[in-house]
Parts: sequence; structure tokens; C-alpha cells
Amino acid sequence: MNMLAIANQKGGVGKTTTTVTLAGLLASSGQRILLVDTDPQGSLTSYFGFEPEQLRYSVYSFFEESQSRIKLPVQQVVQKTRFDNIDLLPAVPAMATLDRQLINRPGMGLVLSQAISPLVRSYDRVLFDCAPALGVLLINALGASRELVIPVQTEHLAIKGLERMLKTLAMVNRVRKQPLPYVVLPTFYDSKIWACVEALQSLQQRHADRLAPKPVPFDPQLKEASRKNTPLSLLNSDADSIDAYKALLTVLQRPEDLPATRPTRISNNGQRQ
Ligand SMILES: Nc1ncnc2c1ncn2[C@@H]1O[C@H](COP(=O)(O)OP(=O)(O)O)[C@@H](O)[C@H]1O
Ligand SMILES: [Mg+2]
Repeated sequence: MNMLAIANQKGGVGKTTTTVTLAGLLASSGQRILLVDTDPQGSLTSYFGFEPEQLRYSVYSFFEESQSRIKLPVQQVVQKTRFDNIDLLPAVPAMATLDRQLINRPGMGLVLSQAISPLVRSYDRVLFDCAPALGVLLINALGASRELVIPVQTEHLAIKGLERMLKTLAMVNRVRKQPLPYVVLPTFYDSKIWACVEALQSLQQRHADRLAPKPVPFDPQLKEASRKNTPLSLLNSDADSIDAYKALLTVLQRPEDLPATRPTRISNNGQRQ
């Protein structure tokens, strides 16, 4: 089971869209995908048509139960989506209070990897859609993952956000056994807009060895797919943006390429466990 985080501390850069689109492509190729919504805003959960108010269990439940002795079976939290091979661990807004609740409580960085571990044989990949904030949820997702995609909007300010994300990654790497490999994915690219072209050039200069093969173009079809609660690849597999996401998949590890090592566990105070 490969664990992939899609993260950037900046919002609106295409994290949820990237998570959904990769899930659509991978599921079509026969991989069993588990999506984990670690963003209290729950955009991924909404994308698949779930209402947080109607969910009895969510990612929040794992953190609640980590403080009690009762173990909630992870299968009870898994929601089937209406798409073959795509299941979801949903988010609820209460997750926004976790950092306040868990401050100074040790061992909270490994809650998600522990919760998901019984599912190792049930899925080929786990995709974490991350919250745009440095906190216990992001640390959990990065700690559990073997690989990271950082979507970056092709504009000047977003590139500054990337530097911030890379600082967070450096912090996480200090306590991992091996550094977390990452791919920078330029998004919202429009070759007719000079600011986009300039931003892409800047990314190419500074992150050449980490850049995805193709930038994801600005593509209104992605928004339309979101309105239809469907991954775009299942509506139009020829869209330009889908081409870029397919190219991204060629540089990501395949589940069969991975050594069978256990993920590094990191506590919420940044210590390896
Ligand atoms: N390449 C793109 N072209 C056009 N619109 C996009 C693109 N990627 C994402 N969007 C739209 O931009 C908005 C923000 O994207 P989203 O994936 O939710 O960002 P994040 O998860 O980083 O906050 C959504 O409405 C989404 O449909
Ligand atoms: Mg999002």
C-alpha cells in the first residue's frame, strides 16, 4: 500500500482537485484507492457528495478514540463512494479544534498511520488530501506518507507558499528515517498570461529536479467536474489537465516499486517514535 500526501500550506492551489483526479485515474487502472480527507473544511468529503452533519464517524473519530481505550474499527469509518475502487475516510468541521485539544499531548503524530494500518491489504494506494495549515493533521499525513505532491499555483505569491511548505517538510524530514520524496506540481497554468509563464520559469530554475513533467493547465472542466461530484477523468479522459495528471503519475512510485517497510511514525512534538 503506497501512501501519498497532497499538501501545501496555501489554500486554493489545487490540492483537492489533484487528489480527486489522481484517484479517478488510478481507480480506472484497477487500483483500489482509499482517500483520506484531513482538511477540516471537508472539500474532498463534499466532492463525493457526503454531508459532514450526516456522518457518524470521520477522521476526527480516530483522534477522539485515541484518548479512550475503546478501539473503533477503521472499516466503520470507511465510506464507499459511488465510484468503483474509490473509498473515503471523511472529514468533519470539528477537526479544526484538534490542535487546540491535543496541544502537548504526546504520541498524536501517529494516530492516522495506526488507524489505517489494518487496511494494508485492502487498498493499493492511500491519498491524503491535506489541510492548508501546519498542525497535527498535516504532521500525521506527512508522517504516514511515502511520497508527497505539492501543487503550486503558477503565480508569484504561491511560489512563496511553496518555500513555506518546503520548510515544514525539512522539519518533518529531521525525524523521518528517510527524507520524504516530493514532486512540485505547477497548477492553473495559462501560457497566454505572462505572470504564469514567469512563475513556471522560476519553478523550473529553482526546483528543476523536482518538477512534475507537465504543468496542470487552467481548465474550467475541473470546476465543472467538481459540480458534478465526479473525477474529471471519468467525464473526459482527453482533457488537457488530465494529460498533465497522467504525466504526473509516470513520476510517482508504483505500489509494486516500494520496499515493504513500515512508515515512520512522528509524534506531534516532532519526535520519531
Ligand atoms: N487547473 C485548474 N484549472 C481551473 N480550476 C481549477 C484547477 N484546479 C483547481 N481548480 C478549481 O479551483 C478551486 C480550488 O481548487 P482546490 O483543488 O479545491 O484547491 P485546494 O484544495 O488547494 O484548496 C476549485 O473550485 C477547483 O475546481
Ligand atoms: Mg482542498
